[in-house]
Amino acid sequence: MLQLQNVFKRFGDSEPWVLKDLSFTLEPGEGILIQGRSGSGKTTLLHILSGLEPPTEGAVLFNGRNISTLDDASLAIFRNKHIGFCFQDVHVQRHLTVLENVILPLLLRGEILSEAASRGRAILERLGLGGFSGKMPAVLSGGQGQRLVLGRALIGEPDILLADEPTGNLDEETARDILKMILDYQKASGTALVLVTHDAIPPSYNLRRYILSDGRLGAG
Ligand SMILES: Nc1ncnc2c1ncn2[C@@H]1O[C@H](COP(=O)(O)OP(=O)(O)OP(=O)(O)O)[C@@H](O)[C@H]1O
Ligand SMILES: [Mg+2]
Repeated sequence: MLQLQNVFKRFGDSEPWVLKDLSFTLEPGEGILIQGRSGSGKTTLLHILSGLEPPTEGAVLFNGRNISTLDDASLAIFRNKHIGFCFQDVHVQRHLTVLENVILPLLLRGEILSEAASRGRAILERLGLGGFSGKMPAVLSGGQGQRLVLGRALIGEPDILLADEPTGNLDEETARDILKMILDYQKASGTALVLVTHDAIPPSYNLRRYILSDGRLGAG
């Protein structure tokens, strides 16, 4: 489904290569775990997989189509339709309520507000945020903010969920909760998952494990 072909990335002609000749394929429903030291390029790799950053060399194909050749508008539509992204930092629209934040991807797609709102309420309920739908995101704790971001990534039922250290700043127990939500969702929905985390993941989740080091992916 999503194919990385000989991808190289650097952020300037005289800058060092961050990613060197990466190739792999992500099939529907498959789960991949990526680990690696700080600065090894994990976030960069997720940005490239989602089309947020173009590769310097090589290609990213989605169902055989090179997403690097899409114009900005087509790329935005591709991301809205197929990709759910949980960013490393909790990015929310501070002037919108929790419910408005979570349904934003559906509104951008042109869905009717009342239908989007009812799906939004349902997902907030599932994430334990039912009581917060009319509140502003500023009142949320770190773990609640992470769940909001997760809800927004999942509401559009993406083919691929990309999660970048979704438990980065959380205590151990909250981190375990969030990871379990992500992994159980992946199992239940058949979404493909690329997860970057340093947390231990039980072998029962059956993830393909990689370590990113010196710009290359090795078996984890
Ligand atoms: N937009 C950018 N412009 C210039 N350099 C960048 C940019 N984004 C990332 N880099 C550089 O690329 C390298 C990899 O960064 P990246 O954020 O992908 O690492 P990471 O593995 O996600 O690290 P962390 O575990 O700390 O999140 C770093 O040296 C970083 O400085
Ligand atoms: Mg990172």
